[in-house]
Amino acid sequence: MAETKKLLRALAGETQATPPVWMMRQAGRYLPEYRATRAQAGDFLSLCYTPDLAAEVTLQPIRRYGFDAAILFADILLVPQALGADLWFVTGEGPRLSTVTDKDDFAALKPADAIHDTLAPVYETVRILSRELPPEVALIGFAGAPWTVATYMIAGRGTPDQAPAHALRAENPVLFEAVLERIAEATIDYLSAQIEAGAEAVKLFDSWAGSLTGEAFDRYALEPCRQITAALKARHPGVPVIAFPREAGDRYAGFARATGADCVALDNSVDPAWAAQHVQVDGCVQGNLDPRHMVTGGQPLVEETRRILSAFSGGPHIFNLGHGITPDANPDNVQLMIDTVRGA
Ligand code: CP3
Repeated sequence: MAETKKLLRALAGETQATPPVWMMRQAGRYLPEYRATRAQAGDFLSLCYTPDLAAEVTLQPIRRYGFDAAILFADILLVPQALGADLWFVTGEGPRLSTVTDKDDFAALKPADAIHDTLAPVYETVRILSRELPPEVALIGFAGAPWTVATYMIAGRGTPDQAPAHALRAENPVLFEAVLERIAEATIDYLSAQIEAGAEAVKLFDSWAGSLTGEAFDRYALEPCRQITAALKARHPGVPVIAFPREAGDRYAGFARATGADCVALDNSVDPAWAAQHVQVDGCVQGNLDPRHMVTGGQPLVEETRRILSAFSGGPHIFNLGHGITPDANPDNVQLMIDTVRGA
């Protein structure tokens, strides 16, 4: 049967007059219904690990806006937690983890295939969603890329410049690479299990790829993405992979070809006209409206949305933001973006 889901058609390389649209962090604090369900769950991690509630917040933006795709509600830091790291979230500040900085810390981590008991509720969320989503809406699973996840595991928190991870890479490359390798193995198992539970595409978030340059970018951003994509393709041929090497700049060019990813997600620092020429030549691109437009709205939102649509109109494109929507966004601006994409 010919594919009917717009998102999967774009990922298969089809150019569509109206591209599919969804939004990074579409289930999030800008929505009053999300805040209510999160309050009901008590805290963010309980929300991630309670399948009925995680499925509910995944469905909320689909009900409100009719996006073409739903993204599983979970977090990239559940993988380090399943590997044995302590994880907690400090309100108003972000994630905190126990750190991995020496060989004893590394030895205390669990093997990659021991993650599934902890992550079983996530797979259950995927199963609920694959039953409950409207038939035209595609379900995206996700994980963090090894470098980005490692930056949190090494520093124990988010860092503006990823300095602790860069320091470990310089001081103890063997340990650093062992950490990345452990995360990569776990990620392959984790994404495979999401696909087996019903995820129809998967996205690999390398949010801090831009702080790797030159050969380090190839080794620690490109190569792990290639390895994970190849392993997933071997196990699940036909399930598309979206890669998001955020702030890769010029290195977005050729990234899909080098890694085997079906689509590259572009952050909002990338000029769409440049990306149409240098990235979309290799297949589908996703992006890349600046999330600030979801706060400010108005005619600039409409004009920038049209500029992106027009730049990518000659090839496969998934409309999205260049990064996650922020808590201060106005839900009406999301509707304005969707109406503009769909030409209403
Ligand atoms: O709607 C979706 O996009 C799906 C769910 C999702 C979340 N996090 C939920 C979440 C996804 C895909 C992520 C990915 C994620 N998590 C990334 C990669 C993408 C990116 O943003 O660059 C990263 C780096 C994380 C780690 C993380 N999780 C941080 C740094 C924080 C705190 C910062 C913040 O925005 O508060 C989180 C918390 C988090 N993950 C929230 C949500 C909705 C906010 C938590 C809350 O409700 O308080």
